[in-house]
Amino acid sequence: MPFVTRDVGQWPPTRTRVVDRSADGRHRAAHEAERENGHHVHTDHRIVHPPTTPTTQTGPASVFADGALAVFQWDYDGHDEQMTRLYAQGKARQWNAAVDLDWDHELDPDNPLGVPDSVLPLGGSPLWERLPAADRVDVRRHIQAWEASQALHGEQFALNGLGRVISATDDLDTKLFAATQIVDEARHLEAFTLLTGKIGVRYPPLAELASLYEGALGEADMDFFAIATLLLEYVALTSLTAQRSHMGDPLGRALIENIARDEARHLAFGRALLRRRLDGITDAELRRREEFVLECCHTLKTDYTPDAVWRTLGYGEDVVEQSRRSAPEVTRRCRTFRQVVPAFQDVGLFGPRVRAGLTTMGLIRFARRRPVPDVADEVRALGRRDDIDAVIRLATSHERTADDGRIETAARRGGRAATRVPAPASASAPARP
Ligand SMILES: [Fe+2]
Ligand SMILES: [Fe+2]
Repeated sequence: MPFVTRDVGQWPPTRTRVVDRSADGRHRAAHEAERENGHHVHTDHRIVHPPTTPTTQTGPASVFADGALAVFQWDYDGHDEQMTRLYAQGKARQWNAAVDLDWDHELDPDNPLGVPDSVLPLGGSPLWERLPAADRVDVRRHIQAWEASQALHGEQFALNGLGRVISATDDLDTKLFAATQIVDEARHLEAFTLLTGKIGVRYPPLAELASLYEGALGEADMDFFAIATLLLEYVALTSLTAQRSHMGDPLGRALIENIARDEARHLAFGRALLRRRLDGITDAELRRREEFVLECCHTLKTDYTPDAVWRTLGYGEDVVEQSRRSAPEVTRRCRTFRQVVPAFQDVGLFGPRVRAGLTTMGLIRFARRRPVPDVADEVRALGRRDDIDAVIRLATSHERTADDGRIETAARRGGRAATRVPAPASASAPARP
């Protein structure tokens, strides 16, 4: 389905022009722009400069060598109220990761971020109770480093993709907000780099997440980046806010509060952007995006676990499996899907194909029976800068279903059972290869 954008060549613009967002449509639109501007557009191998005579032209004007569009918007006076407000907030709430956080603060070597053992995978289990104190220190440090490392890699993914959003969107306010988000993500990358440096351990990206990043950025259309980003930012925000509620270290808490405020703003933007992008696309285009949603959910459900920590520290695959099924891990996944599923519902990526796929994965229970809060409510809430809890609550909270409690109760039961491990043959500590 076409996307209607305001056109062109008149002042003030009064006509509308239909731009097909499909790959063929983009090339047609590029040539249409060529004809209207009287300049040549190469769609296959080079950057083509906009006309030298300023016009009020809207629409595709340049195509990069890889086929990506650089869309110009020559109308500087038409504004999108929601994006304008987000841009104003983005500008006003900048902070400096290097100086606004106390990097001279010394982390506790036994528990760098002051996280209670009860929220670590396997924390409090019989296995945990048998571990020597030095091994518990290793696990605490590595689990915290793994989480911070995955957040770090996610920040780089967002940083890489936002340039494309700026380039490909025809809405000037969207370009401007995305520019502030680029600075935000650069700051987050800097903060997580410094934090993992202080912890002293940095893990590589989870292979399945890296594959998701590469797949999303390899698509010609930025919708795939927007979908993956929405997912990852909910993962980050739910994880960060949960950590903040029990984190004892002041540097870690300050870092999370600052980043969570930015991420809440990004989520409001991401949901608004996707809703617009998906409005009026063809069924074939919707199908591909829905398939990608299911791929994202599957990756999050089955692969986003700190297996690498146990393997790095020399534990066996039985411990990896027990960690995956432990109560804190299951609770963490439930918490994330309670945000992610309604978000996809909200943006319109919730057709019969997605519902069927989520049913197969056992995730449909996280869908909401009533509409999720409008993103505009979140944007209004972001005005209360000092109330971090209100900001985060409005950005992430949705109606809680009776199912959630049932699932978490079942998870706790299953988690306790999963941690009952056979005693190692020759030692009181868990078996290592
Ligand atoms: Fe970020
Ligand atoms: Fe973000």
